[in-house]
Amino acid sequence: MVKMMVCLTSDLLPGKMISVEILGHSVVVANVDGEFYAMDGICSHGLADLARGRLDGFILECPRHYARYDLRDGRVVSGPVDAEGIARDLRSYPVTVDRGCVTVDV
Ligand code: FES
Repeated sequence: MVKMMVCLTSDLLPGKMISVEILGHSVVVANVDGEFYAMDGICSHGLADLARGRLDGFILECPRHYARYDLRDGRVVSGPVDAEGIARDLRSYPVTVDRGCVTVDV
């Protein structure tokens, strides 16, 4: 496991997301009503950057074909089934906040 400070709480306001690279791995970090969540940052269906998607509470919707993931556990809530394949569950990661610093454990 690698712990990495990814941003300050003041950098990521409620309802916002950022994409970060941790040891070459893309991770999306989101602020949902003051709670921070981290999940794999690339959609399992067609490799879209999930940080460009839309937040609806704990649900992150992919910007390309609208697969929906639960940020709390990376689970696919709904997703397309087509020639590009099927959306699969992603990994979520523990996030800690200490003195305004947001740290992800990958
Ligand atoms: Fe995300 Fe297709 S790339 S749903």
